[in-house]
Amino acid sequence: MNSTGDNIAGKVVVITGASSGLGEATARHLSAQGAAVVLGARRVERLKALAGELTERGGKALAAATDVTRVDQVKALVDSAVQAYGRIDVMINNAGLMPQSMLEGLKIDEWDRMIDVNIKGVLYGIAAALPYMKQQKSGHFINVSSVAGHKVRPGGTVYSATKHAVRVISEGLRQEIKPYNIRTTVISPGAVDTELPNTITDAVVAANIRAFYDDVAISSESFARAVAYAMSQPDDVDINEILYRPTRQEF
Ligand SMILES: NC(=O)c1ccc[n+]([C@@H]2O[C@H](COP(=O)([O-])OP(=O)(O)OC[C@H]3O[C@@H](n4cnc5c(N)ncnc54)[C@H](OP(=O)(O)O)[C@@H]3O)[C@@H](O)[C@H]2O)c1
Repeated sequence: MNSTGDNIAGKVVVITGASSGLGEATARHLSAQGAAVVLGARRVERLKALAGELTERGGKALAAATDVTRVDQVKALVDSAVQAYGRIDVMINNAGLMPQSMLEGLKIDEWDRMIDVNIKGVLYGIAAALPYMKQQKSGHFINVSSVAGHKVRPGGTVYSATKHAVRVISEGLRQEIKPYNIRTTVISPGAVDTELPNTITDAVVAANIRAFYDDVAISSESFARAVAYAMSQPDDVDINEILYRPTRQEF
């Protein structure tokens, strides 16, 4: 592993949810700094286009159709990274959705979906990458929580619960994997301009969130820079939590 310089070039990075938003921006940012990126999401055509673009620019990139609610597919994604590049240095568990609504709306399918993608998807990413990292005696998990993983407000209850869970899982993971020299970072962004609000089906909540995002949301490059900051520390430095917001965001 690269342990000098920026500690990014040459690393093998698996990113779930790389077909848009934060994952896509991170793939571009890390690839430009010399990392090999392995991209997972369901919209494989978008992933392939991105991998093609990064490869044309001289980068190393692979794309694999991946539904993070399927443990076998997440394992296949990580296995493909190790087969192609010989190791996995960073697992970015980023895939997620945010169909916010009031509990009384009883959108139970959406609750299930958030639990499956936002919580179980992260656990499946851990399950896929941890055996390799243990064997390597090195690695780095970067799990994506949210400001909503620190706070809750009406309409965001289930989403907040999933994002609180990501922080709890990450902290437990951090403590348990100490013997294996693996780093664990949770990144909790505030409002970032991505496709995320499109997952909201409640018209009133959607309009409110859309207005809020239109007002304050910042670029997904903000997230990519946070990832690069955590990755680029010397190997004996473990950045555990990053919480950031648009300067104008109050919540
Ligand atoms: N944007 C924000 O303001 C914000 C703030 C805090 C936290 N976050 C978190 O950041 C993460 C990324 O979201 P984003 O803002 O970049 O939104 P986004 O543009 O909607 O991206 C979400 C990504 O997740 C993927 N995804 C959704 N369901 C999936 C599944 N079952 N299997 C595999 N991939 C799946 C999507 O790909 P496919 O549809 O192609 O599968 C897409 O690539 C999420 O965990 C979100 O909760 C975002």
